[in-house]
Amino acid sequence: MNGIKKIKLGIFGFGCVGQGLYNVLQQTKGIHAEIEKICIKHPEKKRTIDSHFFTTDKNEILNNPNIDVVVELIDDADAAFKIVSTALKNKKAVVSANKKMIAENFSVLHKLQQENNTSFLYEGACCASIPIIRNLEEYYDNDLLNSVEGIFNGSTNYILTNIFQSDKSFQTALAEAQKKGFAESDPRLDVEGFDPKYKLTIILAHAFGLFIKPEQIFNFGIQRLNEFDINFAKEKNLSIKLIAKCKKTDSGKIYAYCLPKLVAKADHLHTVNYEFNGISIEGAFSETQFFIGKGAGGYPTGSAVLSDISALTYQYKYEYKKVNQQLEYEITNNVILELYVRYNNESEICFNDFESISVKYYSEQASYIIGKISLEKLSRASWLKHKDISLLLTENNF
Ligand SMILES: NC(=O)c1ccc[n+]([C@@H]2O[C@H](COP(=O)([O-])OP(=O)(O)OC[C@H]3O[C@@H](n4cnc5c(N)ncnc54)[C@H](OP(=O)(O)O)[C@@H]3O)[C@@H](O)[C@H]2O)c1
Repeated sequence: MNGIKKIKLGIFGFGCVGQGLYNVLQQTKGIHAEIEKICIKHPEKKRTIDSHFFTTDKNEILNNPNIDVVVELIDDADAAFKIVSTALKNKKAVVSANKKMIAENFSVLHKLQQENNTSFLYEGACCASIPIIRNLEEYYDNDLLNSVEGIFNGSTNYILTNIFQSDKSFQTALAEAQKKGFAESDPRLDVEGFDPKYKLTIILAHAFGLFIKPEQIFNFGIQRLNEFDINFAKEKNLSIKLIAKCKKTDSGKIYAYCLPKLVAKADHLHTVNYEFNGISIEGAFSETQFFIGKGAGGYPTGSAVLSDISALTYQYKYEYKKVNQQLEYEITNNVILELYVRYNNESEICFNDFESISVKYYSEQASYIIGKISLEKLSRASWLKHKDISLLLTENNF
């Protein structure tokens, strides 16, 4: 690719993000890129732009020698992997916002980039408008990073903000998030904490050089939260945020999880509301730095995708600096977490799994404990399958 020549884009998907990208592209005069073709799934759907752009034949993009860059913005991770891997093998640069596809196939995609000497950028896949990947690659390019923690999912943050600030029900808030285009096509990916876990999987490679499978990371979402839990948080003047975190232990290993957390007003994350995402980075000497920005929606994600396209005009590639530094971190679940665990009946929960229990509360409506448990035991706890159990990280609040 030449630095001044206009790069030709082949886009897959013209939904919330695809249309967002199209509009952002139209309004960005300085970008040397133009759309050649857009591949969609349902030709019968009414489109907002001229029909000559569209095709349902992926080969019109993948095998088109005029197309330099493939932009993958579809909602089907399996089909997306086939598109992206073929494009990389065909020596095309690729931009994607598909965190599920990237997280599930990360090692293979990393290898394909090296083998084919092609660039694969995915800033829009992690926290949409916040430029976290390039920051981890370029700015935090040493091994002094201690932790990355944040709200990585705009849809659940939108739901939780509406529950806490507008007293809306979970279902009403979810329907609104879906209507505004913040939710995944399958909302379970958001509310059960899979989507932020996929983003954490990607961040682990750029923060600590670790390629791990999403299944290795424990996730628990907000789907079981009920009025009792919400009132518990409100009475204590705390909010609830769905958090993803990875952190270095004293022994130099890395732990990671995604869990709902009780957050105090003094915490930066408390100020992150609606579809916004927030990321707190802790370095050994820089201490805490906090990033905030829109984490969902066609325009914020479209603008991150556009920034990747723009970076390709000057041949930018992720160098995977932490991988190349051979830091050789290991992932561990050997860390103790403090949790609020709500249940209905004592038989539903295994108290022996806990290292210690500091609070035990009973009422007719519900009961809860506050106790310490290892991430190892938590990730293997079969009692978590019980539908009456909900979890909240209490960290430093009790
Ligand atoms: N929405 C957000 O806020 C957001 C934020 C960050 C990242 N993302 C990611 O961005 C991607 C797209 O999300 P979205 O919200 O834009 O989804 P969406 O609104 O549901 O749109 C999906 C698009 O993909 C097309 N499509 C599906 N399967 C296809 C296939 N096999 N071949 C070609 N086209 C196909 C659909 O075609 P038809 O139009 O013909 O149905 C549609 O245009 C997802 O990976 C998502 O995780 C979304």
